[in-house]
Amino acid sequence: MTTIDRDVIIIGAGASGLTAATELKKAGLTVAVLEARDRVGGRLWTDDIDGAMLEIGGQWVSPDQDALKETLAELGLKTYDRYREGENVYINATGELSRFEGDIFPVPAQTEHEIVSLIEKLDALVAEIDPDRPWGHPRAKELDEISFSRWLETQTDDAEAIENIGMFIAGAMLTKPAHAFSALQALLMAASAGSFSNLVDADFILDARVVGGLQQVPILLAERLGDDVHLGQPVRTVRWSDAGVTAVTDELTVNARRVIIAVPPILISRISFEPPLPRRQQQLHQHLSMGFVIKVHAVYETPFWREDGLSGTAFSPYELVHEAYDNTNFEDPRGTLVGFVSDEHADGVFTLTAEERKTRILTSLSHYYGDKALSPVVYYESDWGSEEWTRGAYAASFDMGGLARYGADLRTPVGPISFSCSDMAGKGYQHVDGAIRVGRETAAAIITDLKA
Ligand code: FDA
Repeated sequence: MTTIDRDVIIIGAGASGLTAATELKKAGLTVAVLEARDRVGGRLWTDDIDGAMLEIGGQWVSPDQDALKETLAELGLKTYDRYREGENVYINATGELSRFEGDIFPVPAQTEHEIVSLIEKLDALVAEIDPDRPWGHPRAKELDEISFSRWLETQTDDAEAIENIGMFIAGAMLTKPAHAFSALQALLMAASAGSFSNLVDADFILDARVVGGLQQVPILLAERLGDDVHLGQPVRTVRWSDAGVTAVTDELTVNARRVIIAVPPILISRISFEPPLPRRQQQLHQHLSMGFVIKVHAVYETPFWREDGLSGTAFSPYELVHEAYDNTNFEDPRGTLVGFVSDEHADGVFTLTAEERKTRILTSLSHYYGDKALSPVVYYESDWGSEEWTRGAYAASFDMGGLARYGADLRTPVGPISFSCSDMAGKGYQHVDGAIRVGRETAAAIITDLKA
């Protein structure tokens, strides 16, 4: 067992922890980043799978994500636009496929009217929500007591409008069924992206990708931190008092003045705290859970859908793969599709054998793009649900009533312990941008305290 002394310990080498460590070091403080895995990046993971570079975790950058864009610029990373020329496809409840342009799906006129009206209502409500303090809304408690699906049913009885609007937050963002989270949680999700309209607009929310992959952000940050990043060091115990803190892994003991726990909030309880965290934290961490989505990549010899005049963008709340996009790498002659199988659908296909699951998923893709989609040269399913140090995707959200009840304390420091993660962000919530924002804010507060 090696013992080291630092000013600040950072537990977790994801985008949030590494940003915090970078800021602290810039301010002249000494740091030790302790990471459980044998790689940095957490939910950012760019890997070579059978000769194809795939983004197993987070990948897209949207125009409002200033914190992420600043970090990309600082690290000299370039972005490129997602391919979006041509027509999108939509499949309705009867399995009928239509091509369309713009944001609104080709649905009957009355359903379109209901969808537009729901978007307007949600935009108006979202405009009243401060993403950093959703619990501060005068109707926060009431909105947190009704599920998003039930709230939608109180607004319209058009099932297709409900399915479509529900999908944008449920399957596509929180990756939980719309009955499993509150209207307030849905409003936070939209407010964190600026508006509900932004979430509905794939050209906005899924605007650009990073040439060479988004995991370069944590990799380059970690390179700069050098020996201060310790891989393969799951923190088992944190001993704390007002005098300081000690983090213990299987090989290292690190003594410091402060610690930042930069892990998904659902993993905080995997660490033994001595003494235990206060009652409030013990309780609140039990009211969060990870969503669950399978991100599927299928690589083809060519982007064949483009020849058919398709953008690659496809949606259907009635399909196993509820959304799919052209995910071709920068200047790659091969074509890549990425699709998503969310929440209960993901549970369902994980009861099948790997071959059966692949067939079901590719068949769903073929409903959008035709039979050529059945024969990729590379096929890969990201399975974050079985990752010990993540346990789901994309991120954590509160159960019904949890956000209004506990949200305000999610990032409240406890003695020398601070918390930082994308899942605790306001703006950029559940996104890399939020991870970086919270990392910066957490570091700034510690710098102010320690330098005072
Ligand atoms: P993150 O979870 O990345 O890091 C936490 C780190 O803590 C991990 O490295 C973990 O191993 C470590 N850890 C945990 N417990 C530990 C312990 N006890 N001791 C030591 N280390 C411990 N975002 C986006 O902006 N655009 C996108 O397109 C997507 N898409 C997307 C797809 C998929 C499939 C996923 C899974 C996620 C996304 N996201 C995304 C979300 C985005 O990836 C995510 O919000 C951030 O990467 C989270 O960064 P954090 O640093 O907050 O946590």
